Amino acid sequence: MASLGDQIANFFSGSDDDTREGLHGLFIDELKGIYYAEKQAVDALGEQADASTTDEVRNAFLTHQEETRGQVARLEQVFQSIGVDADDKTCAAIDGLVDDAQTVVSNTESGSLTRDAGLIIAGQKIEHHEIAAYGSAVTLAKVLGYSEAAQLLHQTLEEEKNTDKKLTQLAESFINQRAALEDGNTPSDSDENRYSTDTNTVNPDGSRYSDSSTITGYGSSNDTISGGSRTL
Ligand SMILES: [Fe+2]
Repeated sequence: MASLGDQIANFFSGSDDDTREGLHGLFIDELKGIYYAEKQAVDALGEQADASTTDEVRNAFLTHQEETRGQVARLEQVFQSIGVDADDKTCAAIDGLVDDAQTVVSNTESGSLTRDAGLIIAGQKIEHHEIAAYGSAVTLAKVLGYSEAAQLLHQTLEEEKNTDKKLTQLAESFINQRAALEDGNTPSDSDENRYSTDTNTVNPDGSRYSDSSTITGYGSSNDTISGGSRTL
């Protein structure tokens, strides 16, 4: 019988048949869960964009929604590359995170910056889930020798990391500070009162909830921050 050390080495290298079969099944299950999660994310990002207060946050969600559609298509390429039909499987984690985002909308005033701060937090929780899922999938793909799948999954992993950084940048740039200054929740039930970077729209104090010099919108390849910290 192989030593414990050999068994562990075989497990992580996937070099014995039983382990490889088990890891292959695990990999397919993970892919199905991610495929489900990304499709849910496309819908959720649209809802979050509709609910957001500022143009910056709304555009960030819309940009990532488009990027996520590409990630769904890329996952179909991953399935194809390993000779498995694309299929999904319910992921309770993403369902819970999307529910949390909907709760943020229910619990905040329409038109408030507090809502945008909450939506950014909810968005980052979703991104962190995706980063964990894709990171694990890349590792499994490499162990199983699926180099094309690993490359495709790694590409999406980098996009998700970049999205998380952009959300941090967005929060730090103005949302948190302005939300803290907000006198309670600013009531605004109409789109006409939406805080905006529109040249015709100003805030009650005459300023604009905008700082286009520091916000690039997430989903952009212009990565200008390095940390994962945030001030929310
Ligand atoms: Fe994604």
